[in-house]
Amino acid sequence: MSFLDTIKARAKADKKTIVLPESMDKRTFAAAEQILKEGIANIIIIGTPEEIEKNGAGYDISGATVIDPFNDPNKQKYIDKFVELRAKKGVTPEQAKEQMEKDYMYYACLMCKCGDADGAVSGACHSTGNTIRPALQLLKTKKGVSSVSGFFVMEVPDCEFGDNGVFVFADCAVNPDLDSEKLAEIAGLSAESFETFTGGKAKVAMLSYSSKGSAKHDDVTKVADAVKIAHERFPDVELDSELQLDAALVPEVGELKAPDSKVAGHANTLVFPSLEAGNIGYKLVQRLAKAEAYGPVLQGLSMPVNDLSRGCFAEDIVGVVALTAVQAQIATK
Ligand code: ACO
Repeated sequence: MSFLDTIKARAKADKKTIVLPESMDKRTFAAAEQILKEGIANIIIIGTPEEIEKNGAGYDISGATVIDPFNDPNKQKYIDKFVELRAKKGVTPEQAKEQMEKDYMYYACLMCKCGDADGAVSGACHSTGNTIRPALQLLKTKKGVSSVSGFFVMEVPDCEFGDNGVFVFADCAVNPDLDSEKLAEIAGLSAESFETFTGGKAKVAMLSYSSKGSAKHDDVTKVADAVKIAHERFPDVELDSELQLDAALVPEVGELKAPDSKVAGHANTLVFPSLEAGNIGYKLVQRLAKAEAYGPVLQGLSMPVNDLSRGCFAEDIVGVVALTAVQAQIATK
């Protein structure tokens, strides 16, 4: 069974309700039809009757709940919640209403916050920043987490490394400024994500251009310090020293460059030293090794919200909804 088939089966076993706010895009309707047909999740689509008619024509979404953001009996509840959550920022009811009507992702996050949905997926026609900002503002991080980050589950064909070619790569999507504290937190969250989604034991490599102090520079020190912090914060997570990519993945190189390491040569969870490295790294593997890249999946939020690539196909939305539904199952356990 492929990674995605396993995730879909898990989603179907305990159906969650996922909200799709992008009714301005036909791919939302194509995906909703498939999700409902396969029984992966209950679906809420946010859109006006005009948007539904224009973009949903020809798709069977009869099993979905459609919420018109201009004519919803629950709207005042969401406005009140918005004002309550953003009280310190001085958001007024008028501003909340305007924002929810202008940007349905705010509406979707408020539905999650009020318990009317278990998660949200957006980003087919919105940038990553615009997709995740409402979630950061309204849903916030889960307890004990200071920073949300984004990972990909990479499934590399014909690959003997990682967990039979399956890896978690992070942070590939969110934090432009990564310091040692954030990197350490990403290591802990990514280990948890790997174990949640694959069922295997995470072996975390903190990537650098240095292995075990082979190079000296502030960039290397940043990663080495992150390793120390991660050891203290997450004593059960398997990780040690900063590693170069080949030392992390290839047993013979790991043996040579980091002989005492349990992780070197066996890593399945790769923490990149910067957003640039992570974003470029996952795209290299996706394009050159023809890997499947599922994500970016957000980790560290209080409720599951996930982003899509603007170049995505309806099939990709189906996959991300299944992943979000599985995150929702875990969040409600
Ligand atoms: N974790 C938790 N909260 C955060 C984080 C984070 N990583 N980043 C920002 N926040 C909070 C802020 O504290 C703030 O909270 P407040 O409003 O209650 O005070 C709120 O989110 C908004 O923060 P801003 O700094 O005003 O928002 P910003 O405009 O910087 O947006 C964002 C944050 C969207 C994460 C930004 O850092 C960003 O655009 N990151 C890069 C995204 C990107 O382009 N990725 C690459 C493409 S993805 C791909 O290729 C798959």
